[in-house]
Amino acid sequence: MPKNVLTLTDQRTDKTYEAPVDEHGTIRAMDLRKIKTDPEDFGLMTYDPAFMNTASCKSNITFIDGDKGILRYRGYDIETLAEHCTYLQVAYLLLNGELPTPQQDKDWTWEITHHTMLHETTKHFIDGFRYDAHPMGILVSTLAALSTVYPEAKNVHDPESRQKQIVRLIAKMATLAAYSYRHRRGHPYVYPDNDLSYTENFLNMLWKMTEPKYMASPVIARALDVLFILHADHEQNCSSTTMRVVGSSQADPYLSMAGAASALSGPLHGGANEEVLRMLDEIVSVKNIPAYIKRVKAGELKLMGFGHRVYKNYDPRARIIKSVADEVFEVTGRNTRLDIALELERIALADDYFVTRKLYPNVDFYSGIIYQAMGFQPEMFTVLFAIPRAAGWLAQWNEMIQDPEQKIARPRQIYTGVGQRKIPTTQDEKSAVKVG
Ligand code: SDX
Repeated sequence: MPKNVLTLTDQRTDKTYEAPVDEHGTIRAMDLRKIKTDPEDFGLMTYDPAFMNTASCKSNITFIDGDKGILRYRGYDIETLAEHCTYLQVAYLLLNGELPTPQQDKDWTWEITHHTMLHETTKHFIDGFRYDAHPMGILVSTLAALSTVYPEAKNVHDPESRQKQIVRLIAKMATLAAYSYRHRRGHPYVYPDNDLSYTENFLNMLWKMTEPKYMASPVIARALDVLFILHADHEQNCSSTTMRVVGSSQADPYLSMAGAASALSGPLHGGANEEVLRMLDEIVSVKNIPAYIKRVKAGELKLMGFGHRVYKNYDPRARIIKSVADEVFEVTGRNTRLDIALELERIALADDYFVTRKLYPNVDFYSGIIYQAMGFQPEMFTVLFAIPRAAGWLAQWNEMIQDPEQKIARPRQIYTGVGQRKIPTTQDEKSAVKVG
């Protein structure tokens, strides 16, 4: 019976080493440190820019099979959750490992509903931004500012305090997002309406004007709830990794989440949905697609909303979003950008450049088109991604805090700088120094 062991022979010393291969098919990087050329040697390290082949943690939360296009939260396929659950039920699942019972669902919904209000000083903080401030800049800043409102949040090892901050953050993300939108539009802030569901209340805080009570379109509210479910978690993506890294220093969850939201804002990550819309508006019409694709293949541009570090097949979320699009356009009217996107996808998926690089539409390719049809400006798209991803970030953070194997994240480096040198003292030494 073959042993679960990796045998390594170091030809520099002719020595042989063994490293156990665990049930996940991984070896511990620290096992390589015993491979030395002499007792003074530091030992072997791995060099893995962008962590392409490095597991930073063990997690029970989300499973992705990039080749098969599988995404599961706590064992449930994303398709099943999108069809049968609400975002709050999925947030509960991500955080607690199980879907809520009817009573748990009622209690959890009550908890979240009654924590959507913001401290009035936070509103004045938002007022301080320029009228055209990007909503992600407002969201990142106000998340950090909330850390000053709840100083007890720094007790990260107190389960009760963690749970209280988790409820506050999930509840207030929608309010922060809505207030950043209202500030940008020059409209007064709308207080939460506790009679409404999480998503209906978000739409209320966004779009209520002078009517006595906001009535959300049930189709739009459900479509947004499904989009929230699809965006809720995605294992160790850039922003979740940031949440874990910042949280590993025992920074409070508000500051950790400000870091995670900052990572999400990048155009290669959550900022891609905003860039997709700009790309579609640059293409303008289906007849311009071949010329645009030519520029992408020449390496001039990226096809935004295409490609993924893990999915080397279709992103299952993109498939679901495409089906949600049809329901939304029933209400909002068809969006011509969808025709360009569908034709762009058809052409790209028949082109060797994309097929050989396994570039398929990802979650961001279609989401922006729907958000725009719902009435959101592109600047709001990444904020709409951040709202539900709060559940994933917090589930990952909570898991990391309780993981006995985790400690402050502090990678090593390969030093490629200059060797030791002294500050010149004599005139000759000074004139010998090359400057610049
Ligand atoms: C999200 O990690 C997650 O899980 C993220 C996310 C989540 O839920 O958290 O799924 C959300 O961020 C989705 C991704 C959104 N980003 C975009 O749509 C931006 C466009 N996509 C790319 O920038 C890119 O595909 C990434 C960043 C998503 C993935 O990049 P990788 O894994 O680092 O791959 P790479 O950049 O090394 O590309 C490999 C090859 C390169 O070509 P060659 O150098 O081999 O010739 O594919 C090419 C790249 O040039 N390529 C693209 C491309 N993406 C990769 N070429 C054109 N258009 C693209 N979109």
